Amino acid sequence: MENVREILNWYIDAGVDLALEDHPVDRFTEITPTPVKRTTELPKQSLERTDVAPEPQRPLSSEPRSQATLPDGAAIKTAQELAASANDIEALRNAMSQFEGCNLRLTAKTLVFADGNPEAQIMFVGEAPGRDEDLQGLPFVGRSGQLLDRILSAIGLNRETAYISNVIPWRPPGNRPPTPQETEICRPFIERHIELVNPKVLVMLGGSSAKTLLKTTDGIMRLRGKWCEYSTGNIKTQAMPTLHPAYLLRQPAHKKLAWQDFLKISQSLKKSN
Ligand code: URA
Repeated sequence: MENVREILNWYIDAGVDLALEDHPVDRFTEITPTPVKRTTELPKQSLERTDVAPEPQRPLSSEPRSQATLPDGAAIKTAQELAASANDIEALRNAMSQFEGCNLRLTAKTLVFADGNPEAQIMFVGEAPGRDEDLQGLPFVGRSGQLLDRILSAIGLNRETAYISNVIPWRPPGNRPPTPQETEICRPFIERHIELVNPKVLVMLGGSSAKTLLKTTDGIMRLRGKWCEYSTGNIKTQAMPTLHPAYLLRQPAHKKLAWQDFLKISQSLKKSN
């Protein structure tokens, strides 16, 4: 038992903290033939192992769904339609919980929709939930979330006076970056989300959020700390990209840059009151 615990901890430390399938895969019984240039074709059978019993076939009805069935284009269209049909935040949350076009929902435990006050003047948008967020169903509750809370408190904000969400609402397995396809599939939801909240100030946390929402390829070091206009559908709002709290945990020397950005954000909120 102790050995099992140790190996599990070893996996968790390496970032392997979730199972992708209900059933284990014995990779040692898998044969992946390496293409070899041959003059004569080997009979097909020679690639199959005869010393191991074949995996029992699971009946179709109990087959776990392993991936979304919609092709990307159709998934984006469905997401756009669902997002557009949501007339308030709760309707959007329901629409997203019904949406089956993104494979990330199959490995995530929860839909991480948002936290804070949807009536707030300021909205923060991060990249995607991590492990703690997935477990609690709330954005920014892990280590980077705790840092975000401290930064918010330093400019007199908290989760009752701010609203927080992510571009991607489901945790990518092992915290890998979301793929461009996953981002495009989820884009209609975050765009509608921002539209429904209609904040006075929108803050993009990190390069991934800034690039997605501003549709730019510029890096975060170029974008951060500069006001820009974010417009989608019926709204226009002033927006500022800044450094992601997870980045600040890795590069504490850059906290001073983030602090400069947050001072600008705070001044802007004060002006608009
Ligand atoms: N990082 C993000 O971008 N979002 C979260 O919710 C947590 C960590």
